[in-house]
Amino acid sequence: MDIYAHRGSSGTHPENTFAAFKEAARLPIFGVEFDVHMTRDGELVIIHDEKINRTSNGKGFVKDMTLNELKKYDFGAWFSKECKGEVIPTLFEVLELFSETSLQLNIELKSDVFPYPGMAEKVLDLVGAMKLDSRVVISSFNHEMIRTVKQLAPHIQTAALFMEVLVDPLQYIRAIPTDALHITKHAALRSSAKKVIEEGVPVQVFTVNKASQMKALKEIGVRAIFTDYPEKMSNHLNNTSIPKQSVPIISVFKNIIGKNK
Ligand code: G3P
Ligand code: MG
Repeated sequence: MDIYAHRGSSGTHPENTFAAFKEAARLPIFGVEFDVHMTRDGELVIIHDEKINRTSNGKGFVKDMTLNELKKYDFGAWFSKECKGEVIPTLFEVLELFSETSLQLNIELKSDVFPYPGMAEKVLDLVGAMKLDSRVVISSFNHEMIRTVKQLAPHIQTAALFMEVLVDPLQYIRAIPTDALHITKHAALRSSAKKVIEEGVPVQVFTVNKASQMKALKEIGVRAIFTDYPEKMSNHLNNTSIPKQSVPIISVFKNIIGKNK
C-alpha cells in the first residue's frame, strides 16, 4: 500500500504550505497531494478552499485576488504561532520543491465550484515544461476537467474524485475516461468499490488517519491512502511487528458508517 501526504503533512503543519510540503518531502512515503485554485490574474496557487478565510489572516475568494495580493497574507499563523509567516505557494513553486525528490505528485484541480477556464491547459503546460509528466496524477471532483486533461494529454495519469457511492463506478470511470478512483473510506467499503479493485483499477482512499483503518483498507486491496499524518502512518505500515488485521472490517470502520468523509 502507498501513502500520500494529504495537503502535505497537514496534521503536523499548516495544510498546503511550504512547511507541510518540506515535511512531506523528507519522509519515506510514495507521494504528496495538494489542491489548486486560480487567481484573478490567472496564476495557479495551492490552497484547499475557494476562500482564504479559514487558512489565512485574510478574507475573500481566491478567484477575486491577484497573486500579489494573496502573497501578502499569512497562511501559517491560524495553525500555530510557530508557523507564522507562511505565504501561499504557487503550483510552480511546489513542483520545483518536489522536483528534487522522487515523490509522486497528486495535483487536485479544485474547479468543481468555480470552473476556472484554462486551468487544465495551464497545469499541463507547467508539468510538461518541468518534465514531471511521469510523476503526476491529476485528480478532480470536476470530471469534465478530468476528461479535458485526458483529451489534451492521454499519457498523464488521472483520477476521478467522488464523495458519493456509485452503483457502477467501473462503467462511469470508463466513460470519463480516467485511470483511477479516489474515494472516501465510506465508499471503499461498498461492493461496488470491490468490483473496481478486482478489475485492477487503482482505488485510493481519503482521508485515513488511523492505522487500523489503513490496514483494513490494505487487506481489501486499496492501492493507496491519503493521510494528514504521513510519518505516523508510514511508521505503522512499515512496522512488521504489528499483527495483520484480523478483526472484522465493519468493526474497524464502525465510527464512520453513515458518515461521508
Ligand atoms: O484528493 C483527496 C482529497 O484531497 C480530496 O478531498 O477536500 O481534502 O481535497 P479534499
Ligand atoms: Mg485535495
